[in-house]
Amino acid sequence: MSEFADRLVRWQVEHGRQDLPWQRTREPYRVWLSEIMLQQTQVSVVIGYYARFLVRFADVRALAAATLDDVLPLWAGLGYYARARNLHACARAVVERHGGQFPRSAAALAQLPGIGRSTAAAIAAFCFDERAPILDGNVKRVLARHFGVQGYPGQAAVERQLWTFAADLLPRAPSMPAYTQALMDLGAMLCTTRKPRCADCPVRSTCSAFAQGRVHELPAPRPSKAVPVRRAWWLVARAGECVLLRQRGPEGLWGGLWVPPTFDSAQALTNAAQSLGGVPEWLAPRRHGFTHYTLDYTPVLLTLPAVPPAAHEPGEDWVPLSRLDQYALPAPVKRLLQHVAVRQDDLWAGAVRATPEGQCY
Ligand code: ADE
Repeated sequence: MSEFADRLVRWQVEHGRQDLPWQRTREPYRVWLSEIMLQQTQVSVVIGYYARFLVRFADVRALAAATLDDVLPLWAGLGYYARARNLHACARAVVERHGGQFPRSAAALAQLPGIGRSTAAAIAAFCFDERAPILDGNVKRVLARHFGVQGYPGQAAVERQLWTFAADLLPRAPSMPAYTQALMDLGAMLCTTRKPRCADCPVRSTCSAFAQGRVHELPAPRPSKAVPVRRAWWLVARAGECVLLRQRGPEGLWGGLWVPPTFDSAQALTNAAQSLGGVPEWLAPRRHGFTHYTLDYTPVLLTLPAVPPAAHEPGEDWVPLSRLDQYALPAPVKRLLQHVAVRQDDLWAGAVRATPEGQCY
């Protein structure tokens, strides 16, 4: 085994994370679910979602038998909702193409929806001891520093180089689960972007960035590109004990999730508010950062005495506050409703109660 892998495995056994919920199993369904949830999302956030998901969908057949609308509420707030759509499609593919058993090689796993090369390798290493390299964002940082790799790791040529290092370092098969976890732990616990803890690092003596005093320079950051800003106006209409929500189309951003009716001008929102009746109350604009653009949105409250008789469009619901937890809401919508709840009465507040992660569901 490479010296690098040997040191990492020893370090993992003594200092790494041993007790995360998905480490107590080698069941591919559970490992796969954790790996998908952990993409771009921190462990502390995932733990609660993971537990709730498994209570509702205990195995891949249960998930495949559900509809996407059953799945989305359990994902709401985790972000990157394409993951939830792919997760559902993947469960169906496992049942239809593989008789309900996840395939046992990284190459076959990578053929399934939502499973990229690194995720396939992680599942195959954890569940089947396969010698397949992982290369997520954290591992790119570890390897770029250790081997002094120049250039932004999102660039194809740089990424190819990193995959080659990752593949060359692998230990023998029985050490694959510990080694894979060690790389993840090193990236999350010591070799962090800010304040890396080099003094505690098991591979510091062979780290090129450390030797050259370049730990903070590597990996090279994404070349900066101006992110466009989009504006939107959200109508938060409450009528009696209901709030008006619209389900977004299945594709694209927040696909399948429920949001307040959204307008691309203040005038368009004003017209809609007028047709519902009531006096709009304008709140301060808020900002939400997506990967490809920034959304600046202005929430506008409208309080009506009762649900208007004919105010219904397809895909639109007057949702009773007591049933709000059955609707998949993006995190900014939940936060907004909670903010509004605090300004209004107890019924609201109960409907959008806070979870331990400080979000609401
Ligand atoms: N990030 C991605 N996969 C992970 C895992 N299995 N444990 C901890 N963090 C992770």
